[in-house]
Amino acid sequence: MRCERWPVDPERPDPRTLERAGAWLRAGALVGFPTETVYGLGAAAGDTAAVARIYAVKGRPADNPLIVHVADPSWLGRVATAVPQPARLLADTFWPGPLTLVVPGRDATVAVRVPAHPVALALIAAADRPVAAPSANRSGRPSPTQAEHVLEDLGEGIDLVLDAGPTPLGVESTVVDATERPLRLLRPGGLARGDIEAVLGETLLPPDPRRPARSPGQRHRHYAPRAPLELFEPGQADQLLRAAWRLAPERRVGVLLAEPRPLPPQVVVEVLGPRADPVAWARALFGALRRLDAQGVEVILAEGPDPVGVGEAVWDRLRRARARGGEDRA
Ligand code: TXA
Ligand code: MG
Repeated sequence: MRCERWPVDPERPDPRTLERAGAWLRAGALVGFPTETVYGLGAAAGDTAAVARIYAVKGRPADNPLIVHVADPSWLGRVATAVPQPARLLADTFWPGPLTLVVPGRDATVAVRVPAHPVALALIAAADRPVAAPSANRSGRPSPTQAEHVLEDLGEGIDLVLDAGPTPLGVESTVVDATERPLRLLRPGGLARGDIEAVLGETLLPPDPRRPARSPGQRHRHYAPRAPLELFEPGQADQLLRAAWRLAPERRVGVLLAEPRPLPPQVVVEVLGPRADPVAWARALFGALRRLDAQGVEVILAEGPDPVGVGEAVWDRLRRARARGGEDRA
C-alpha cells in the first residue's frame, strides 16, 4: 500500500483536512507530519499496535523510546506521573517549541514536547490524544526536513504524510532530563543550551557516559549519509580544500562548506551558510546530506558553523554522521 500525501498550508492548515488526519491517527494509522524541527512519524501514543509498527517501519532498536507530542502544556499531566518544578518552569517558558523534557512517567520516564508548528498542533488537537512520534526517517538516516524525505525513506510502510513544505529549524529538539537535579542535556537541538541555562539559573550537566540508558538514542549511529564523512574542525578549512583537490581525481567527493571556494569542477559542493549563521546551517544540513547521497558521492568533507547557539546541535549531528564502525543505527 502506497502512502497518501496531503498538501497543507503551513500557517493556516485546512481544519477539515486536519480533522481527517486526526481521525486516521485515532484509527491506528501512521501519519507523517511537519514540526518546527523535522518531520515526525506519528501514532496515537496509547495504541500499542500502531507504536509497534513505527519501530518496524523505521527499523528502530526497541530500546529507544519515542517522544510523546502534546497540544498544550496542560496535557503534561496526561502523560507524566509527576512534573518536577524545573520541568514546569521550562515548559511554561519554551513550549510550544523545540524542547523535549524527560519527566517521570508510567514507563519510569517519558519524553514530552509541545511542537511549535500550526500543522502539528492542529493534528494533535484533532486526534484529541497524545501522539508518539520519532523523526520520520529510516533509522540511522538523516532526519527528514521535507515531506519528500519522508516518502523516500518510509513511503512503502506508512499511511499518510501531511506536506507543509520544509521545516523551519531543520534539527531536532533539545532533549533535557528533568527527572533529577541538576538537569541534564541529553541531546543538543533547536533550542540553545544557553537559553535553557539562563532560565534555570544553573548549568546543564552533559550526557552521562556511565548511564547511556538515560539517553538511549545517543548510543546509536545517527544522521548518517551513506558515504564516510570527514569533519574538519574550525580553522582547518585549508586542510579540507587540500584533501578535496587530492581526492577528486580518483573519487567522487562531496563537500559541505560555509562559503564558495575554488574546487575541481567534479566536486559536489553544498554551501550551507556563513560560519557565523548556525541557524542557516541547521536548516540546510540534513537536506544537503541527502542530496550528496543522491549524487552518489564516495566521501564527504565537511566544515561546520561557529559552535554557538544551535551550532552546538549542528556539530553534534556532524560528529554522529562521521561515526562509523560497530555502532547501531537508530
Ligand atoms: O524534534 C524532535 O525531537 C523530533 C520531532 C518529530 O519532534 N523528534 C525526534 O524523535 O527527534 P527521535 O525519536 O528521532 O529522537 C528522540 C530522542 C532519542 O534520542 C531518544 O533516545 C530520546 O529522545 N528519548 C525519548 N524518550 C526518552 C526517555 N524516556 N528518556 C531519555 N531519552 C529519551
Ligand atoms: Mg531520530
